[in-house]
Amino acid sequence: MREVLTLITEEVTKAFVSCGYEEKYGKVSLSNRPDLCEFQCNGAMAAAKAYKKAPILIAQEVAEALKGNGMFSMAEPCKPGFLNLKLSEEFLAKYVGEMSEDGRFGLETVEKPKTIMIDYGGPNVAKPLHVGHLRSAIIGESIKRIGKYMGHNCIGDVHLGDWGLQMGLIITELKLRQPDLVYFDPDYTGEYPKEAPFTIGELEEIYPTASGKSKEDPAYKEAAMAATYELQHGNRGYQALLKHILDVSVTDLKKNYENLNVSFELWKGESDAQPYIPDMVQKMKDDGYAYISEGALVVDVKEDSDAKEIPPCMILKSDGASLYNTTDLATLVWRMKDYHPDEVIYVVDKRQELYFTQVFRCARKTGIVDPDTELKFVGFGTMNGKDGRPFKTREGGVMRLETLVNEVDEKMYEKIIENHTMSEEEARNTAKIVALSAIKYGDLSNQASKDYVFDVDRFTSFEGNTGPYILYTIVRIKSILKKYAASGKSAEGAEILPAETASQKDLMLSLSQFNAAIRGAYEETAPHKVCAYIYELANAFNRFYHENNIMGEADEKKQAGFVRLLELTRDILEQCIDLLGFEAPERM
Ligand code: ARG
Repeated sequence: MREVLTLITEEVTKAFVSCGYEEKYGKVSLSNRPDLCEFQCNGAMAAAKAYKKAPILIAQEVAEALKGNGMFSMAEPCKPGFLNLKLSEEFLAKYVGEMSEDGRFGLETVEKPKTIMIDYGGPNVAKPLHVGHLRSAIIGESIKRIGKYMGHNCIGDVHLGDWGLQMGLIITELKLRQPDLVYFDPDYTGEYPKEAPFTIGELEEIYPTASGKSKEDPAYKEAAMAATYELQHGNRGYQALLKHILDVSVTDLKKNYENLNVSFELWKGESDAQPYIPDMVQKMKDDGYAYISEGALVVDVKEDSDAKEIPPCMILKSDGASLYNTTDLATLVWRMKDYHPDEVIYVVDKRQELYFTQVFRCARKTGIVDPDTELKFVGFGTMNGKDGRPFKTREGGVMRLETLVNEVDEKMYEKIIENHTMSEEEARNTAKIVALSAIKYGDLSNQASKDYVFDVDRFTSFEGNTGPYILYTIVRIKSILKKYAASGKSAEGAEILPAETASQKDLMLSLSQFNAAIRGAYEETAPHKVCAYIYELANAFNRFYHENNIMGEADEKKQAGFVRLLELTRDILEQCIDLLGFEAPERM
């Protein structure tokens, strides 16, 4: 369905043209003064200059031309030259009725679906997931869901950090502890065992121990670097160990992401890009882009229009080792080869923005990506504690994601068991569902690039702009609908009738903004716009609920119309929270 604002603009444009003014003046926007009108057009003010006429006169003419137009219940000139508009209740009821008949609530699928790859998550193998990875997972998942819902082919890639010193550190520590393992026998030529020689718990202890030791002991660090080099240059035993590390880690990561309702189409890692590096580097040299500077191989990426200095993109270190940059560029090589994406979106900490500017420019300049492939960086801010500093455990350490999720679960459970007569089991399950909404909505309702304070008390509140408030609203609607069904009535095929009260009209206006809100969130890669939309919709619903006696309505036709509105509100809210990556319980 076409968006309400488009339809209104069309009518107002026609009116401007019929009065002898240019089309471009007919643009309508949402009202800045909801107390006066629902929509407004400021075109008369602009036209006044061009036509040398008082703006109010133009607004009056256009308002006159709109008289009798069934779309509006009000088209009023207002000083100095605004045109204030209200939709007619009949038009709105018809529009909302059509939305409810449409499987996508009036949102059209895109005509030309794009292939969009989304690089998010970015966990590092063998290191536990920590809260820093939370934002990438939550935001990336939502961007992907919004893109898919619009009709695009979206492919999420977790882009594991599985290639670097951390692997050498683990291998070094293992060798120290279990030198007799077959992986360390240089003469061994047989098959390696299928079982890993460690569990995830051990792995998570080994890495920080090794990392700590390497900081104290230069010889240890030397050994880890040597192990990393050997791993990357064909040591069979080490490569078999790497496979074990990956398997054990990935199994654990999948479980963690599943708990967050986050999933990836691709589980590729930095290591998957390595085979593409030699040819890529050779080509950069052959084409004359890469040159040696202070021993390192670099590509210039600065541009004349740069306000600040953009340093060259480093491709190889002086010892020939590849870097984070090299891997990201080589990853683009296989992404182009295998998927030829129209767009690649990176959801990464905003502190990596300069880095990605270098990588994008380098990829474009050296022809790794086609000119029509868009590279987009969605940088997110830091999640802070209530003290305004990066989120830490009470002891000041890095907080593990699992710990954080468990804390919120616990908090939610206490709240739910306190005001309910639910069984222990139901309360636990419900708490999990609601807690996830608290965490995700708490994050997604902020513009991604901003830092935000992770405030468990506020996020878990059933009131205010929170996930639990949205869920509470959905549960309330479900419960009314259950009561209605239990009374033996059915609203099937009933008509949504023109609003008779202000709160009913507001709810319908809010519903009618669905397609515009989702399109906006997609175009701006901005899940917070979905949050803003459902917060407004939930508020509009709750006002409607308090001001209208839905179950007590004696006129059955009217009541059935209400029920249809409720169903549509529930469906749209549920669709939207699915785009945000969480769901609603049956009751709470
Ligand atoms: N593993 C990285 C980290 O933990 C994030 C990866 C981001 N994505 C990328 N393509 N570089 O910081």
